[in-house]
Amino acid sequence: MNPTQRHARFPLGVRPTPLHRAIRLREDASLLLKRDDLTGFGLAGNKARPLEFLMADALARGCDVVVTGGAPASNFAGACAHAAYIAGLDCEVLVASGPASSMPLQLARACDASVRPVECDRSAVDDAIQTRAGELESQGRRPYAVPRGGATAVGALGFADAAVEVRAQLDDLGIDPSRATIVLPVGSGASLAGFMAGSAAMEIDWRVVGVSVSRPSAQMTAQVMSLSTGCSSLMGTSPAPPGAFTLVDCSQDSDALEGDGGGARLMRESEGILLDPHYGVPAFDVAMQLHATDREPVVLWQTGGLPAAIEFVGVSDSRVMGRQ
Ligand SMILES: Cc1ncc(COP(=O)(O)O)c(C=O)c1O
Repeated sequence: MNPTQRHARFPLGVRPTPLHRAIRLREDASLLLKRDDLTGFGLAGNKARPLEFLMADALARGCDVVVTGGAPASNFAGACAHAAYIAGLDCEVLVASGPASSMPLQLARACDASVRPVECDRSAVDDAIQTRAGELESQGRRPYAVPRGGATAVGALGFADAAVEVRAQLDDLGIDPSRATIVLPVGSGASLAGFMAGSAAMEIDWRVVGVSVSRPSAQMTAQVMSLSTGCSSLMGTSPAPPGAFTLVDCSQDSDALEGDGGGARLMRESEGILLDPHYGVPAFDVAMQLHATDREPVVLWQTGGLPAAIEFVGVSDSRVMGRQ
C-alpha cells in the first residue's frame, strides 16, 4: 500500500527513478545509486517530488499565486517557479541577499516569475514569504506560500512516496531492505522528513542517514521530526519514532569547493554522474565511509543539483590537479 495515494498530485516528473548498482565504483555491487537527478523535470532533481503535491494542493485550494524563496542558488526556488508556470499559477520568488544571478533564478525569470531581492539572510526568507503572502492576500490575491525547499507536511509527501518506491526496487533486486543503509543529503529537511514518514507507514526498519549541509544536527533533527509527524498525520499513519534516523553534521563544511573535489571527479569518471558540491559531494563522502566500514548495501540518493554540478566540473578538476 502507498499511503500517499489518496493525495492529489500534479504530474511533473517521471517515476520511478532508476535504482542501480554502482559497479564501476564498487566492484562488489553493494553501493547503489538512486537517480533522482533523472526525475526529468527541468532542473528540479529530487524537488520534482514535493512539487507534485504542492502544486496539486495549491490548485485544490483555488490559489492563483505561489510565493516561495531561498538563497540565490536555490534549486528549489527555480524548480518551484517552473512548476507554478506549468500549473498555470503566478509565482513570486524572494531571494535572500547574495549574487543576483544563478541558473535557477534565470529559469524562474524565464518562467515569468517575479524574482524579488529581500534584505535578509536565507534563514529569514521563510518569514518574508509569509509576510509577502499576507500582503498579496490583502490585495485580493489567493497566495500559496511555500517555505524554502518545499518544507511543509504536504511537500514531505513527495519523499514518503519515494520511500515506497525504493523499497519496491530493492525487493526487485533481491536486496533485503531492512539490511540497507539509505544516505540522503539534507537541506530544508523536507525529503528526509517525508522519507521517515513513508518508512514508518511501511513499518520498515532500514538505517537512514541524513547528511545535513546547512543546519546543525540538533536544529535539523527537530525540523525533520516536526515535518515528518505532520506528514504522517496527513497520511493518517503512525509517525516515525524519535531516533529513527541519524544525521551527519556537514553544516560547517557544506561547500565542497573548500575540499579537494576528489569525490566529484571519481563519480564523473566511473559512473558518469556530475555531483553538485553542496549536496552531492558531502553525501557521497558519507556514503563511501559507511560503505567502507559496513559492507552492507548502501543506497546513495543522487538528488540532482545540476546547475552547481556543472559549475563545479572545472573547479574540482583544477583543484585535484593542483592548478589552483
Ligand atoms: C540538489 C539537492 N539535493 C538535496 C537537497 C535537500 O533536500 P531537502 O531540502 O528536502 O532537505 C536539495 C534542496 O534544495 C537540493 O537542491
